[in-house]
Amino acid sequence: MQTVTTLDLLRTSTAALRAGGATIGLVPTMGALHQGHLTLVRAARDACDHVVASIFVNPTQFGPNEDLDAYPRQLAEDQAMLEGERCALLWAPTVEEMYPEGFASSISVSGVSDNFCGAARPSHFDGVATVVCKLFNQVQPDMAFFGEKDFQQLAVIRTMARDLDLTAPRVEAIIGVPTVREPDGLAMSSRNRYLSSEHRAAAATLPNAMREAIARIEDGDEVRETLAALEDALLGAGFSQIDYAELADARSLAKLDALGAGDARLLVAARIGGTRLIDNMAVSQRA
Ligand code: PAF
Repeated sequence: MQTVTTLDLLRTSTAALRAGGATIGLVPTMGALHQGHLTLVRAARDACDHVVASIFVNPTQFGPNEDLDAYPRQLAEDQAMLEGERCALLWAPTVEEMYPEGFASSISVSGVSDNFCGAARPSHFDGVATVVCKLFNQVQPDMAFFGEKDFQQLAVIRTMARDLDLTAPRVEAIIGVPTVREPDGLAMSSRNRYLSSEHRAAAATLPNAMREAIARIEDGDEVRETLAALEDALLGAGFSQIDYAELADARSLAKLDALGAGDARLLVAARIGGTRLIDNMAVSQRA
């Protein structure tokens, strides 16, 4: 696997990969890779001739009170993991390469960005949309792969790609890959490493309580009451704060008080021992 840190080298290397009409699958990441990321690489490898991964801890998606400097950085370990998955190319630009002196543009995707993590982290999704648009333009992949774990992020990227005509024939498809979970059900995340063993054990309540709430909603229980019970269960298990626990339309991310005609999603963000965990799961229509 080749690692490139300048746009000039990236362009030369991606052109070489594309020779003879070969396709490229892009896996954008911020590094600190775990099995969830490697699942994205495998999905890209299955669907495309070559995989290009990016590692860039994007400063514009961190708020002033979020510790950008503390975000885990482990390039050598990440490179070894990507090599093991037969990734062809790693794009690892510096901040100066990504945002040169005088950089002044930003992409804002209203609607899908407004609620949930967008409400708690103002301008976070502007930073995500801007850097992902740049990554699409830089790498020009045939397909791009994102985890469903960050469900709102995926919705924001899909909306941006549609609105700005970044979709076919430029990025033929944006693929959402199902969340990879630990054996006890906790969604894999770079943030799980911050949990103490006590908090790590309690964190498994999150997926289990979500599954119970989903079963109740699918059985026809009142949505608001069920969500309140879900919050109580999490607080009782040791979570200190629930940022949100909401049922939403899976496409628009509009909040729902009842199951409607479209697909629905349960989305939760909750804090335990200073770590903010997010998770989401599909909710089916009542039979
Ligand atoms: O999900 C992430 O790791 C980041 O938000 C992304 C998509 C790589 C953009 O910086």
